[in-house]
Amino acid sequence: MRHSIDDKDARRLLGGGPVALLTTSWRGNWNVMPLAFYTPLSIDPPLIGVAIHPGRHTHDMVRYSEEFALNIPTQELLHHCQYLGTVTGSELNKFDLTKLPTFRARRVEAPLLEGCVGWIECGIQDAYTVGDHTMYVGKVVAASAEQDAFDNNWLLTDPEEKPLHYLGVNYYATLGERLEARIPAVADIKRDIEAGAAELVDEEESAERKERQAEAKDREERG
Ligand SMILES: Cc1cc2nc3c(=O)[nH]c(=O)nc-3n(C[C@H](O)[C@H](O)[C@H](O)COP(=O)(O)O)c2cc1C
Repeated sequence: MRHSIDDKDARRLLGGGPVALLTTSWRGNWNVMPLAFYTPLSIDPPLIGVAIHPGRHTHDMVRYSEEFALNIPTQELLHHCQYLGTVTGSELNKFDLTKLPTFRARRVEAPLLEGCVGWIECGIQDAYTVGDHTMYVGKVVAASAEQDAFDNNWLLTDPEEKPLHYLGVNYYATLGERLEARIPAVADIKRDIEAGAAELVDEEESAERKERQAEAKDREERG
């Protein structure tokens, strides 16, 4: 049974990517907010788009400092995520309040968060107004990950080391297990292409044959 979804909620069907805690620093002040609207945009140069509503304190922190960091939390920061996304840095200092432990980033001033398994440091390359958000295009200047959590992919072995995913509202999840797909051999792909092409020729030939037979029958009937 299918049910329709409000256009504005269609984005939730694409949900499930790791949530990020976006940290910023400007003139000695730090801020942090959870971020679900991000996307890789380019591999070389490595660019990541982050969509931030102009109403967020983070929006101006990124605009002025021209940099940010993405921290990928684990379930240890589940309740922090929700809290940090409910209050604003324009009214209170989220770091004083939460006492979240941090460490220095390699290339940006924004602090990096403990209790996370991946960190991406970015400088701002561009900014575009996209609907009611600003899409900042960040160029990756440094990245690191917890070895037990990520080799060149998320390992998803230890529940404590799994990234936290955002489903919407106040729901989150972690992924089950990593599944490995079979990599098709080049020879198999070639064989499939050739077989497909041969099948196509066969189909065309049989269609032509049928047409000729129909024409011959038609002529016969007309005498
Ligand atoms: C899990 C989660 C994800 C969020 N993702 C975004 C996002 O991608 N872009 C955005 O502008 N706001 C997003 N928000 C809302 C901001 O995090 C929230 O408004 C926050 O309080 C802003 O803090 P600030 O004013 O200190 O920057 C999200 C909130 C939550 C809880």
